[in-house]
Amino acid sequence: MSNKTTVISAQELAAQFAYCDQIAAYWHDRDRVPTAYVETYGCQQNEADSEKLRGYLTQSGYTITDSAEGADVVVMNTCAIREHAEQRVFGNLGALVHTKRRHPAQKIFLCGCMAGQRIVSDRIRHSYHHVDGVFSTHHLWQFPEILYNVLYGGKRQFYITDEPGSIAEGIPQVRDDKLKAWVSIMYGCNNFCTYCIVPYVRGRERSRQPQDILAECRALIEGGCKEITLLGQNVNSYGKDLDCCMDFSDLLERIAQIPGEFLIRFMTSHPRDAGRKLFDTMARYDKIAKQLHLPFQSGSSRVLKAMNRHYDREKYLEAVRYAKSVMPDLVLTSDVIVGFPGETEEEFEETITLIQKVRYDALFTFIFSPRHGTPAASMEDPTPKQEKNRRFDKLCAVQNEISTQIHAAYVGKAMRCLVDGKDGDHLTARTEGGRLVRFQGSDDLIGTYQTITITGSTTWSLTGKI
Ligand code: SAH
Ligand code: SF4
Ligand code: F3S
Repeated sequence: MSNKTTVISAQELAAQFAYCDQIAAYWHDRDRVPTAYVETYGCQQNEADSEKLRGYLTQSGYTITDSAEGADVVVMNTCAIREHAEQRVFGNLGALVHTKRRHPAQKIFLCGCMAGQRIVSDRIRHSYHHVDGVFSTHHLWQFPEILYNVLYGGKRQFYITDEPGSIAEGIPQVRDDKLKAWVSIMYGCNNFCTYCIVPYVRGRERSRQPQDILAECRALIEGGCKEITLLGQNVNSYGKDLDCCMDFSDLLERIAQIPGEFLIRFMTSHPRDAGRKLFDTMARYDKIAKQLHLPFQSGSSRVLKAMNRHYDREKYLEAVRYAKSVMPDLVLTSDVIVGFPGETEEEFEETITLIQKVRYDALFTFIFSPRHGTPAASMEDPTPKQEKNRRFDKLCAVQNEISTQIHAAYVGKAMRCLVDGKDGDHLTARTEGGRLVRFQGSDDLIGTYQTITITGSTTWSLTGKI
């Protein structure tokens, strides 16, 4: 496997668009408007990929529906991060046998991170015969070709070659949300944290050209978008593979200089590369949200080393200290894994003391899940499941208390929020730090920034009034 990024040429992409035209002709001949359903699992990266799948499907004449029942095409865009995520997909995939029985012409595809694992594609090949095509994230740009081959050739398609990955510009996108947009700035990951499957299924780190990213952001803002979230597994290493001289902070700065009323968020930052330049840039621009998702994974330096994270407890705490010193209102969130192989009770307690010290606004908590082919999956793991569950519950209890206290401190404050939608008879809004606020108001406020006074709080959200 070579290490070079492939850039998909305009001609290669044009060939895919020609497949879209032929698929549209297929349905035109049958005098029918076909329907397609895309089900997304996992992180924002997958959400962004699903927008491209829908883009291709729309271009091929499909109407997008919100159910697999009766759909002519079903695409499952999957996540492999933990065993539980995979089990859900296998369960739902199994259930599609019945939708296909009721609509035998239905074509079913599985893509995303699970599709990048040989054990998964083999299992689909041998045990899930109702699945018509499997393609890994590296082959997403070829989806029209795969769909065409299935429609016209009738044979099952497997596009799963192992490669470092490519960059394809110009795939059409159907975005879920007009107000908030995901913009991928890079793909893949080079970090190989010992527990993590992502580098194996998403390939090597590769950055999009800054001019492509800037053009996309400009177009979004001109189209009325109010919030852009820049995506990458480790945004701080943006640009390392480019010939030009732009790092992530430079890119953020250039986006913040685009005229218009909007906010920029980004995820995820790896503590190994998140440094003062980034925090200073965030502090300097009003358009960069004072929100940071900085996963720490463990409070123990010994465990961090075993995870191959390339920072220790002290370095992490120092980064947080500096970030808070230049951004006093910073909203900080993180990911943490409990029960990494060999984690002792004392090491777990170091995780507890770290969250008590940092006081995160919110925490995404996970129990270690062994992933086939990763180094941690074959590490000795003597801690019983029950004990891991106990640690997990304790961690959640400590964090919930902190979140409740932090949210309670919002009460009485006036916050500038983007009104982004409705939930029952309430409107919903997000603070600059990304906290959810529910309040009463008329629908025409949706899409505007409003100052909302916070009147109440829970562990997970806030209530307020205009
Ligand atoms: N690139 C991001 C994280 C992507 S995965 C980063 O480096 O921070 C999201 C989160 O899932 C990770 O931060 C980690 O906390 C969790 N995770 C990843 N692999 C896991 C595994 N094998 N078991 C449990 N949690 C895992
Ligand atoms: Fe996984 Fe680590 Fe890469 Fe994040 S940085 S995607 S946790 S390997
Ligand atoms: Fe899951 Fe792939 Fe994202 S494994 S978390 S969908 S990068």
